[in-house]
Formats: sequence, structure tokens, C-alpha cells
Amino acid sequence: MDLFGRGDDVVRREDLAPGAAVLRNLVTARAPALLAAIDGVLQQAPLRNMVTPGGLTMSVRMSNCGALGWLSDRRGYRYGAVDPLSGQPWPDMPVLFRELAAEAADRIGIVDFVPDACLINCYEPGMKLSLHQDRDERDFNAPIVSVSLGLPAVFLFGGESRSDPARRVPLGHGDVVVWGGPSRLRFHGVLPIKEGVHPMTGRFRYNLTLRKAG
Ligand code: SIN
Ligand code: FE2
Repeated sequence: MDLFGRGDDVVRREDLAPGAAVLRNLVTARAPALLAAIDGVLQQAPLRNMVTPGGLTMSVRMSNCGALGWLSDRRGYRYGAVDPLSGQPWPDMPVLFRELAAEAADRIGIVDFVPDACLINCYEPGMKLSLHQDRDERDFNAPIVSVSLGLPAVFLFGGESRSDPARRVPLGHGDVVVWGGPSRLRFHGVLPIKEGVHPMTGRFRYNLTLRKAG
């Protein structure tokens, strides 16, 4: 506890830019349930290394749940309803995911956010995600809600062009970032994950990226 009686797990909002904020600890209390739900999804749709259109294998392993899943292969980046590994629809999005997405968006004044796609990213120490924009979705009016679980990371929050300076935002277990409205197309990425062991996830960082893709 600090002087103001705030424990480590108190939810705090830190604004990043118009339409963008970090919601510290928003999901810390429900992390065990979220991790169990992730586990359930991954049993049906295992993590895998996708290939970029240019033929590079991505180090961060990914899977999806919800009506649509984000895919990358030699044909390009896109959303699809079917997991190419199983030929089956992606697993249903757990209600818990949908609820937290709506709650996170609501906290920054975006009402009625209903995601139809959840990308699950799994990082190990040394892995990073290069600066990019999320622009494979049909409608840029809906925000992005991004949940961090397990090992900490440094999130890069840039501007509208790749060369704009990027802010370094430390993200811990249970933190949620939301960016929408005027910030929706901001470049963002993740610096290489530091070696470590998290009590709930071991040597992994999980990220859930909830979007309205279709
Ligand atoms: C992403 O941009 O898809 C993931 C960001 C993160 O892992 O925090
Ligand atoms: Fe992204």
C-alpha cells in the first residue's frame, strides 16, 4: 500500500493520447479465470507460428477465438472464420473476454463495443513484435482492446506514421490498453521480452487483442 492506501492491484487509468489509455490492473483479479479460458481455447486451436506474406516465420506464437481469426500466410494478412490447422471454425470467444472488452472500452467512453475476433499472442523471453498498425479490420470506428498476462513487456505506442517517436509504456500482468477514435491507427509494437518467470504463466507472456474485424 502507498500513502493513499492504494494496493498493487488497484485499477488506475493512465491516458496515452486522445482515445487511448492504459487501464492498470483492470483484469488482475480475473487473471486465473482468463488463463483457464485461454487454455480451453488453445486445446481446440493450438498456438502456432504464422508466416508473413514475405515468407518469414513469426516468432510470437498465435491463435484465435471468436467468429473471425487473424491470419498471416504467403497470401497476405486477413481474417477468416476457419482455423486452417483444423479446418474447423475458431473456438467461441469466452464470455469473459467479451465482457472485459466492453468494460475496458466503456472506461474510456466508448460504449457498446462488441468484439468478434480475439487474437491470442504468446511471447517468450527475447521475442518482440515490430511496429505495425492494426488495419486488417473492416471498420476503424471500433477500438482495439489489448490485455497483458504473465511476464511484463514494454509496449511501444507510436504515432500515425512509422517514423513518429514511440512512447515506451511498461505493461504488467492484468493491465489493459485501449486505443480507438483518433488513436485507432497508431503504430504500436512490443520490445523484446526480458528473461523471467511469472508465478502464473512461467516463461510466457500472453496478450489478448480484442477487435471488431468484420
Ligand atoms: C498486437 O499488437 O497485436 C499485440 C500487442 C501486445 O502484445 O501487447
Ligand atoms: Fe497490433
